[in-house]
Amino acid sequence: MISPVIFIFSLLLSSSQAAVQDFCVADFEFPESPAGYACKKPAAVTVNDFVFSGLGIPGNTSNLIKAGVITAFASDFPGVNGLGISMARADIAVGGVIPFHTHPGASEVLLVVEGTVFAGLVSSTNEVYTQTLQKGDIMVFPQGLLHFSLNAGNSTAVEFVSFSSATPGLQFVPFALFGNDLPTDIIAATTFLDEAEIMKLKAILGGTG
Ligand SMILES: *[C@@H]1O[C@H](CO)[C@@H](O)[C@H](O)[C@H]1NC(C)=O
Ligand SMILES: *[C@@H]1O[C@H](CO)[C@@H](O)[C@H](O)[C@H]1NC(C)=O
Repeated sequence: MISPVIFIFSLLLSSSQAAVQDFCVADFEFPESPAGYACKKPAAVTVNDFVFSGLGIPGNTSNLIKAGVITAFASDFPGVNGLGISMARADIAVGGVIPFHTHPGASEVLLVVEGTVFAGLVSSTNEVYTQTLQKGDIMVFPQGLLHFSLNAGNSTAVEFVSFSSATPGLQFVPFALFGNDLPTDIIAATTFLDEAEIMKLKAILGGTG
């Protein structure tokens, strides 16, 4: 008969040998797959893989949208690979906007830390939900739904956002429509906009055709 002491000892030994996989720090030497990046060998992982300092620096707002976004997605921050979480920071100057966009892979929580933000989302049944948010307010944007935020105050607004994926994706509607070589007549036919307006928007957003 096996003694209880030996039994417990062997249990401890076996559990320490069959360790769960604690993390899957992204190994950028291999391409990203739908399941994320390949895992770095644990022996090669350092604390730097779990720390990202980029969100302490304001995004550059000297651009068309007067807003700067810094992402801490898996492609920027190897430690979040496989964890189903990530973050970003947005700085929005006075008059600036984070245009209509979607994250195909994640729901989002937006936290306003400075200034006043007017934010909104449109459901898949085209219901509109908008709110003016002050410092400390949070708002959620369900996965895949179109949403936006703009500076509704007289000083720079700062937002920190969290995502339910390490790879949320980020697609801006204006650039999807007018920032590429999709032919103008096709855009007119599929959006009901007139061609002159489309050409104007292409000139602003870098589109051709
Ligand atoms: C911000 O972006 C503008 C336009 O690209 C550039 O001229 C400027 O040097 C940038 N500022 C900083 C602080 O990086
Ligand atoms: C911004 O400034 C204008 C003019 O000074 C003022 O009327 C308005 O209430 C201010 N808005 C906010 C959100 O502080």
